[in-house]
Amino acid sequence: MSQTTTPAGFSASPGSPPARIADATRAREVALAFDLRHLPADYYVNPYPTYHALREHDPVHRMPDGGYFLSRYADCIAVYKDTSAYSSDKKQEYGPKYGPGLLYEHHTTSLIFNDPPLHTRVRRIMAGALTPRAIADMEAPMVALVDGLLDAMAAKGSADLIADLAAAVPVEVIGNMLAVPRDERGPLRDWSLAILGALEPVITEEQRARGERAVAEFVDYLRGLVADRRAHPGDPSRDVLTRLIQGEADGERLSERELLHNIIFILNAGHETTTNLIGNGLVALLDWPEEKARLVAEPKLMRQAVEEFLRFESSNQLGNRLTARPVEIGGVSVPAGTFITIGIGAANRDPSEFPDPDRMDVSREPNRHLSFGSGAHICAGINVARLEGRVAIGRFLARFPNYRLSGAPVRGGRARFRGFLSIPIALE
Ligand code: HEM
Repeated sequence: MSQTTTPAGFSASPGSPPARIADATRAREVALAFDLRHLPADYYVNPYPTYHALREHDPVHRMPDGGYFLSRYADCIAVYKDTSAYSSDKKQEYGPKYGPGLLYEHHTTSLIFNDPPLHTRVRRIMAGALTPRAIADMEAPMVALVDGLLDAMAAKGSADLIADLAAAVPVEVIGNMLAVPRDERGPLRDWSLAILGALEPVITEEQRARGERAVAEFVDYLRGLVADRRAHPGDPSRDVLTRLIQGEADGERLSERELLHNIIFILNAGHETTTNLIGNGLVALLDWPEEKARLVAEPKLMRQAVEEFLRFESSNQLGNRLTARPVEIGGVSVPAGTFITIGIGAANRDPSEFPDPDRMDVSREPNRHLSFGSGAHICAGINVARLEGRVAIGRFLARFPNYRLSGAPVRGGRARFRGFLSIPIALE
């Protein structure tokens, strides 16, 4: 499926893929029938017409499984901010989904899928490990890495933006961050994809089994890495893994199980999301040539541009919470124990927060998008991700301002993680 496919029934707008369903009756039908478990092929190509239809016709939408899908910015941010009413704990959902096993153990031990007290403890240690100094230390090796990848592309004269850049950067950056020896990084990406793939709304037995195997192999590998770092600790103000192992100065530490699963989580959190930021951003620029020209002419806009890429084509389209008590959302009464899907991609196109939301504007400000979430669980790697986006996209554009597609980009076909599997380009 390519970005340029025009789904039947959607109206085209110049310069960008179609953003709205032209016919109001049809839009209402699409909204009322929306079911995350049964998504039409069109949705994976371009979910925004569906998001607009939902926001306009059924913004607090009850799906057939009893869960709700939120598409208004105000509703989404309110859910993110209220951790007492909206729980991140996934035990109730993942018990039946995964059954007992390592996939269940992994996801229910990760900070992202927990409430206090586990979340607060792990978050404090993780935030303490991702020091400004540790992040500043990442920039020079990141620039060298990206420039090396660009040299290799220049030598070929063509490239796959995913394999040759977008996927290659995060695996090295996160590998460097945890000081994983370079020759041991090979399996990291596949483990990560298998574990994250199991988070899709519906999974096959094969996907579950692949996820189980990936957690088993990952834990096994990390046990050795952690044992080695315990024996030879790095500087805790610079070495993230050493800091995670040693915990906080006041004696707060992670158990071995918490440590291993949260290292896996950090490795996973930084992979596909960042790959998608880089790939989605560079494809969006091709749809918006005037914005591309502005950014090439004014590289200092890159900081804002990265935020706009994240807003416009969020790498992560869906967030989840469970109601901890009865709540009211936009006038709709929702009982305790209800699954809530936060439509990140939908909120990011809400015209009440973002004027002219379907226009990509590399200098948009303010830009309070929800692509990193918000509130207590807001992305802990936000500054690493932003730096990767700036360095990878910025240096690529400076070097190859006239890149163009040489074939149709292939979409990942996932609802939660929006991105491409390959983007063939020609370089001039
Ligand atoms: C463009 C890249 C990225 C995007 C779009 C992204 C997005 C997100 C989102 C939406 C959440 C919040 C989930 C929720 O509240 O339910 C989150 C949490 C998190 N992210 Fe990221 N992320 C990115 C890159 C990274 C990187 C590079 C790292 C690590 C270096 C990272 C580490 C984390 C961690 C540890 C959490 C959990 C925070 C918590 O639960 O308190 N992320 N991310």
